[in-house]
Amino acid sequence: MKPNDKGTPLLDVRDLQVEFRTREGIAKAVNGVTYSVDAGETLAVLGESGSGKSVTAQAIMGILDTPPAAVTGGEILFQGRDLLTMGAEERRKIRGSKIAMIFQDALSSLNPVLSVGYQLGEMFVVHRGMSRKDAKAKAVELMERVKIPAAKERVGDYPHQFSGGMRQRIMIAMALALDPELIIADEPTTALDVTVQAQVMDLLAELQSESRMGLILITHDLGVVADVADRIAVMYAGRIVEKADVHEIYRAPAHPYTRGLLASIPRLDQKGQELYAIKGLPPNLLHLPSGCAFHPRCPQVQEVCLTDRPPLYEVTDDAGRPVEPRRESACHFWKETLEMSLREGGER
Ligand SMILES: Nc1ncnc2c1ncn2[C@@H]1O[C@H](COP(=O)(O)OP(=O)(O)OP(=O)(O)O)[C@@H](O)[C@H]1O
Ligand SMILES: [Mg+2]
Repeated sequence: MKPNDKGTPLLDVRDLQVEFRTREGIAKAVNGVTYSVDAGETLAVLGESGSGKSVTAQAIMGILDTPPAAVTGGEILFQGRDLLTMGAEERRKIRGSKIAMIFQDALSSLNPVLSVGYQLGEMFVVHRGMSRKDAKAKAVELMERVKIPAAKERVGDYPHQFSGGMRQRIMIAMALALDPELIIADEPTTALDVTVQAQVMDLLAELQSESRMGLILITHDLGVVADVADRIAVMYAGRIVEKADVHEIYRAPAHPYTRGLLASIPRLDQKGQELYAIKGLPPNLLHLPSGCAFHPRCPQVQEVCLTDRPPLYEVTDDAGRPVEPRRESACHFWKETLEMSLREGGER
């Protein structure tokens, strides 16, 4: 999306580069990531393990361990201002109150020896200078907002006294406490069983639409994002390989990697069919393949893919005009790939 289409995006990550300096060499974990999120929008970030989803999020949040990590290029514009060049104190303030993050593992993010009410209240005591008593009332309010039953009675309970799903709701409550404008949820439901996953995801979507927050939802599960995301960014080897409206990407992916990902979701209407898995392994970040990093695994690989790294091409119609909603693919053969997807979609 061009910034002047809809004004300044809430978050605009441009050509972000993050390296890890390890004993074996430099691992390029994030290798030119560009994505944006508007207020009230949900962007799902997808990709196999190790593709750089979390490292990108940690760079946005400003919680990378430096060293071994180093941001070596790019910009992270939050409401138009670059977080990477901002003073430490200002950045800390934004991190505390405007951008919040939800992690996968609630149990290790919560303090086991403090009641959940105390921990929720702490947000208001520290950031808003509230009294303990008022903060406790706020904690109950937050627990109600994330639909924890009997919140008043349970505010003094400890993390281990809650189920996994309820603990994840507490993490969401914690993230919501200071009314952030952006929430980054990194695999927020991965540790939960399937029915609870859906409930937590629905809750997150509901809260997000109520408050017009931007939401970045990181997952490697394409199945969970269909209902909640507006747009999808697919990552491979530290780069975005496809970006599109969620319905468009499901209807017809324009990158061979996305095609592989989509083909690997188990479908209820295709019981018994063999699951397609993408052949081969994700690349070694110390020695990225030449050209397109996906080329060693790509079923449609051509000569040029071995030598030329594809930029993110804008998908256009036959007249060369960008399609609406806009979409991009980092494949030299996006057109052929899209046509193939459309043909197969028609056959289904
Ligand atoms: N502390 C570290 N030292 C060296 N390399 C690291 C470190 N942390 C992450 N990396 C590298 O960065 C790459 C990207 O990691 P990241 O955690 O962003 O992957 P991810 O897409 O979130 O995967 P997952 O789906 O498993 O969470 C990994 O391949 C890893 O090798
Ligand atoms: Mg991760």
